[in-house]
Amino acid sequence: MAVQRAAALHLMLLVAAAAASVAAAGAKVPAMYVFGDSTADVGNNDYLPWSIARADFPHNGVDFPGGKPTGRFSNGLIGVDFIAIAMGFSRSPPAYLSLMATAANRSSEAPRNMTMAAAAAAYTTGANFASGGSGLLDSTGSTISMTQQIEYFSDLKDEMSTRLGAARVSDLLSKSIFLISAGANDAFDFFSQNKSPDSTTIQQFYEAMISTYDSHVKTLYNLGARKFAVINVPLIGCCPYLRSRKPSGECVEQLNQLAKSLNDGIRVLFSNLSLEMQSMKYSISSAYELVSSLIKTPHAAGLEEVKSACCGGGRFNAQRGCIPSSNCCNDRSKYLFWDLLHPTQATYKFAGLVFYDGPAQFVSPISIKQLVEA
Ligand SMILES: *[C@@H]1O[C@H](CO)[C@@H](O)[C@H](O)[C@H]1NC(C)=O
Ligand SMILES: *[C@@H]1O[C@H](CO)[C@@H](O)[C@H](O)[C@H]1NC(C)=O
Ligand SMILES: *[C@@H]1O[C@H](CO)[C@@H](O)[C@H](O)[C@H]1NC(C)=O
Repeated sequence: MAVQRAAALHLMLLVAAAAASVAAAGAKVPAMYVFGDSTADVGNNDYLPWSIARADFPHNGVDFPGGKPTGRFSNGLIGVDFIAIAMGFSRSPPAYLSLMATAANRSSEAPRNMTMAAAAAAYTTGANFASGGSGLLDSTGSTISMTQQIEYFSDLKDEMSTRLGAARVSDLLSKSIFLISAGANDAFDFFSQNKSPDSTTIQQFYEAMISTYDSHVKTLYNLGARKFAVINVPLIGCCPYLRSRKPSGECVEQLNQLAKSLNDGIRVLFSNLSLEMQSMKYSISSAYELVSSLIKTPHAAGLEEVKSACCGGGRFNAQRGCIPSSNCCNDRSKYLFWDLLHPTQATYKFAGLVFYDGPAQFVSPISIKQLVEA
């Protein structure tokens, strides 16, 4: 207990220090490009009429400036916003589709041509391609796959090169941060399709995930990305949704084990890649360690409730998603989880600071701050 309290205090001091060092603004990198799932989506799915993975309605956004739902799966800002703020931006770069809604529709070439030019100008300081429901594997979800997100980035790069010149764009990209937050949905899907998978099936899934990650990173590298900020697979077995499905209300250890082994693979993969590609640099933030640590010592982030969702319904307030008629808690800053799957703004704020400039337990081999300054 004493050890836990000391750890909690240490984290609080650290976060206070990080918050102070962030106060002096002015972007420290030219741009930030974001890829991934609902943990990083700032509204792309609002533009997918067919998608059910969306958060463009209340109570989402209740604590966002103006209290409006933006498509973020949270009561307010999310981790990429806080990381962007720490780098001197006002928040996450805009959702790519917010300017490219027509352009996204590849069957209509005419408007694409117009919007590409406008978008290339607007996205010189970054764009967010993340899409809730997506994964590393193309087969995961039915929103914007990682492959498609990278294709959008490639289109954007082409247009920027036409406007600014290839050399300038390549210099800009080599100094920019490429943030990837993905992998949880693949694991969820794997377990919903294989109720009790044997070790061979798990191994095949693991290998497919790591080799797909490898190919996405190489594609981005070949497009000019050099600085990778990776958010690993969270402690997904402890999300309120999975607790609500266990009579005991405990975490689903099998999913946590899978997340842990994927994270081990991701760590080795990036270490290998950085040897292979000399000018590549990376920082891995451990969403897994962060959630695990907050469940043990919630007070470090001012939290009190680490099991139930703030907004939802049923057991753990997590048998149903967060919709306008849901039961929504008042003390949102005390909850680790906003809805059945996603963290609150309070959790994301703490995560953003710890990933930006925290200890190696949470971010390694270097912090995002060191990646920015490298
Ligand atoms: C894409 O464009 C086609 C042809 O213009 C149109 O029929 C379709 O509805 C569009 N899809 C979306 C999602 O906007
Ligand atoms: C549209 O694209 C064509 C060639 O692809 C180019 O010549 C033309 O200037 C573009 N128009 C606009 C408005 O960007
Ligand atoms: C990393 O490199 C080692 C040595 O070449 C190799 O055995 C291993 O399979 C690689 N692992 C990954 C995940 O790339």
